[in-house]
Amino acid sequence: MKKIAILLSGRGSNFMALSDHIQAGRIDGKIVGVLSNIPGAAGLAEAERRGYFTRTIPSLGRKRHDFDREVVEWLQGQQTEIVCLAGFMRLLSPLFVEAFPNSILNIHPSLLPAFPGLHAQRQALEWGARITGCTVHFVDEKLDHGPIILQKSVPILDDDTEESLSRRMLEQEHLAYPEALAEICADRIRIQNRRCLRV
Ligand code: GRF
Repeated sequence: MKKIAILLSGRGSNFMALSDHIQAGRIDGKIVGVLSNIPGAAGLAEAERRGYFTRTIPSLGRKRHDFDREVVEWLQGQQTEIVCLAGFMRLLSPLFVEAFPNSILNIHPSLLPAFPGLHAQRQALEWGARITGCTVHFVDEKLDHGPIILQKSVPILDDDTEESLSRRMLEQEHLAYPEALAEICADRIRIQNRRCLRV
């Protein structure tokens, strides 16, 4: 059973989806802690309500290196094996990435490499894309860049707004992230160059 830590900055709906699937026994893992860089993040309150071990390490005004080192120490203290970024709005430094090689996951609301960065749904709409989606990927030091584990597509409808598209996107995110984490926890993924192959 893999020891999983969750890092979040906001409402934490992806965290909740992961937690639900773990509780239901669909992922061979255990959440050992939930950390936020934003004091009072709604996702952290929900984590407390669910009885998880939580921690806030504010990032505001801190040097990236100092903040990341403190987070890594906390993760190591929890014997973390897999780190799931769930709406964690920070780029990780090499120090962080190297502490957890091929063990940090993120979900991004576009079909990468299209539309990296903030407001990915808005970017897809404004570009006029007809299909977008979400991507679960390994994390490296570059933004939304590491090997892709799993993607799910979402069509863009003529009357979509950023809100309606984000709502339908989130439904797919809540399926994609648990599915990817289940595969990781079952050691089913082998990385060859940038490709995540199933074993
Ligand atoms: C999601 O859209 C996720 O793809 C992106 O940030 C958002 C987080 O939402 N990385 P939530 O906090 O999990 O509800």
